[in-house]
Amino acid sequence: MRKLLPLIGTLSGSHPGGRSALTCRYRCGDACFHEVPNTSSNEYAGDVIAGALSRRSVMRAAAVVTVAGAGTAAGVVGAPGARAAGGGPAVSGSPAYGAGGAKGKVKGARGLRFAPVPPNTADAVTVPEGYRHHVVIRWGEPILRGAPAFDPERQSPEAQAGQFGYNCDFLALLPLPGERGRQLLVASHEYTDEILMFRGYDPDRPTREQVEIAWAAHGLSAVVVEEDRRTGKTGRTGKLTPVPRHPLNRRVTATTEFELTGPVAGSELVRTSADPSGTKVLGTLNNCSGGITPWGTTLHGEENFNQYFANGSRDTDKRYGIGSGATERKWERFDQRFDLAREPNEVHRFGYVVEFDPYDPASTPRKHTALGRFKHEAATVRLTHDGRPVVYSGDDERFDYFYKFVSSKRMRHGTSRRVREHNLTLLDEGTLYVARLSGDSPAIEVDGSGRLPADGEFDGSGEWIPLATATAGGAVSHVEGMTAEEVFVFTRLAGDKVGATKMDRPEDVEPNPATGKVYVALTNNSSRGTGANPKADEANPRNANKHGHVLELTERWNRPESTRFAWSLFLVAGDPEDPATYFAGFPKDAVSPISCPDNLAFDDHGNLWISTDGSALGSHDGLFGVATSGPRRGELRQFLTVPVGAETCGPVVQDRRVLVAVQHPGEVDGATVENPASTWPDGPGHIVRPAVVAVWRADGRDIGV
Ligand code: FEO
Ligand code: CA
Ligand code: CA
Repeated sequence: MRKLLPLIGTLSGSHPGGRSALTCRYRCGDACFHEVPNTSSNEYAGDVIAGALSRRSVMRAAAVVTVAGAGTAAGVVGAPGARAAGGGPAVSGSPAYGAGGAKGKVKGARGLRFAPVPPNTADAVTVPEGYRHHVVIRWGEPILRGAPAFDPERQSPEAQAGQFGYNCDFLALLPLPGERGRQLLVASHEYTDEILMFRGYDPDRPTREQVEIAWAAHGLSAVVVEEDRRTGKTGRTGKLTPVPRHPLNRRVTATTEFELTGPVAGSELVRTSADPSGTKVLGTLNNCSGGITPWGTTLHGEENFNQYFANGSRDTDKRYGIGSGATERKWERFDQRFDLAREPNEVHRFGYVVEFDPYDPASTPRKHTALGRFKHEAATVRLTHDGRPVVYSGDDERFDYFYKFVSSKRMRHGTSRRVREHNLTLLDEGTLYVARLSGDSPAIEVDGSGRLPADGEFDGSGEWIPLATATAGGAVSHVEGMTAEEVFVFTRLAGDKVGATKMDRPEDVEPNPATGKVYVALTNNSSRGTGANPKADEANPRNANKHGHVLELTERWNRPESTRFAWSLFLVAGDPEDPATYFAGFPKDAVSPISCPDNLAFDDHGNLWISTDGSALGSHDGLFGVATSGPRRGELRQFLTVPVGAETCGPVVQDRRVLVAVQHPGEVDGATVENPASTWPDGPGHIVRPAVVAVWRADGRDIGV
């Protein structure tokens, strides 16, 4: 189904959330169009009543789009160059949403005192009144010594391997002691949109050069960025500028050597003809969101790795959504490791959490098998009271699970090589758990419409079910009928066997540093309650869930290693006028509409920031802030929107700066290099480029105070 206009496309409802067909194809390998991979028989409760959204609520969102300026309204493919550049069109304030359009001091939770950005469809990044933004770094900008300036007509694998990669997702901004005004930016490059990268791209006949450029455009980037050091009347801005050729700048790609560590390293299941040791893997694929460890490394989740592998035939392949034919990108024609018929174990070497040490450019990044193999959306870390890391991770698939890993080793403090080496092994020993949730309301009260049960909350209790424990001396399975190695490689099947709770696409899982409560973004699941698929339950209370929800989890005794927890739904997303939405009980006439929550972050005030992927409300994706405690708990405000076809990723919220990754701008079905749907960020005549954007306050003060 073509998505002609963002508004019309979402009303057609043929793609989950508001995604374009192009997004589904290149990012997830059309995951939502295939059979639901989880056909296991875990129990569900709840009666079904059609939970479709009213047309009125969708139209309301559309009606507030008030974009001025030629060519800035919803994108029509077929009008190349007809769009405004990233400078941003005028977007009217919307009194309908909280403090929208307010002049002067805006009331709100500390950190969220800004006039909300109204929903819109501008081909621009739009930010609140009184805020400024600029592009920090774009796809293709040179970061390594010798890399050429970006030229879309003269791309090469060698050039791309020294340039910032495509489709930035997770972002980390790390301190750089000893270098005043500088920070170290780490980015994941989730996937490539070949049709938007190469002029004349033929999906049936990709060239070796195009494929090798795509390999080099995947992976990670580390790049030092410099703050604007202007002082005086203009004040400090939030601008960040890349420092090319800095010795810490680095690219990791689909061909960089990785070490496979933990219980699966060396196993028969991961040995290949190129690596009989089963410990050396080339590359990382589909790195989505991630996390920062307290010992100064970054974690990156390998998400939709299935789509890169052709000719799957085993039941285990099917459970991971690996297709039985050729792949979209046809990489198997150029490297046989992507062909399961020839190299069946290569696919067992992807789908892990990757650890990257950005402070050691010579280090070999690792894949930690003890955290299990699934479509890791992210990996976020907190410490137990005795200093052991706990890592949360969601498996982004309809009806799949979320997990946590509790290490048995304590983090050491210090910067010596010995200490760093020790800390790099923390995620190799410990226990992997999967979540099972129970509701506390009678199943009959959860009718699939989103109507709250009589106790006024979707809530209940849960347990972390152990799957396997990895130790220095070996690994022990806690799942009947599966060895520990099988649990770590076929983790989804282990979750099936122990009766984990089938969720509506678990995305980011983020602990609140201020309270210890853990937030799980469940982005959407339009298959919930359809056909033979599981029906709504208290933790996933809407059938045909187009807009998603956010779950709040409290570990027992507030200890990260607890095996029991309480949970409640913090947000049930959608248009606030839709009765099937819930904003932690906050008055719904004072919140922004939100759909498809994805990446999460916290600011220093304890507010949760949520970026969205595929808004099904007819407006563009964005970034939102919401208070999690106090009288304003649930007051949600939109902070920015992103251009046509883009998703908002990687939010980083610092005191004076917000950073987002604008991923896959222009990714609208039918768009090509010659016929773009977006010309962001450089305007007509320029190729659309994923990029990182910084936002700050024009008056130089802190964000939202
Ligand atoms: Fe890469 Fe689940 O988003
Ligand atoms: Ca309840
Ligand atoms: Ca994501």
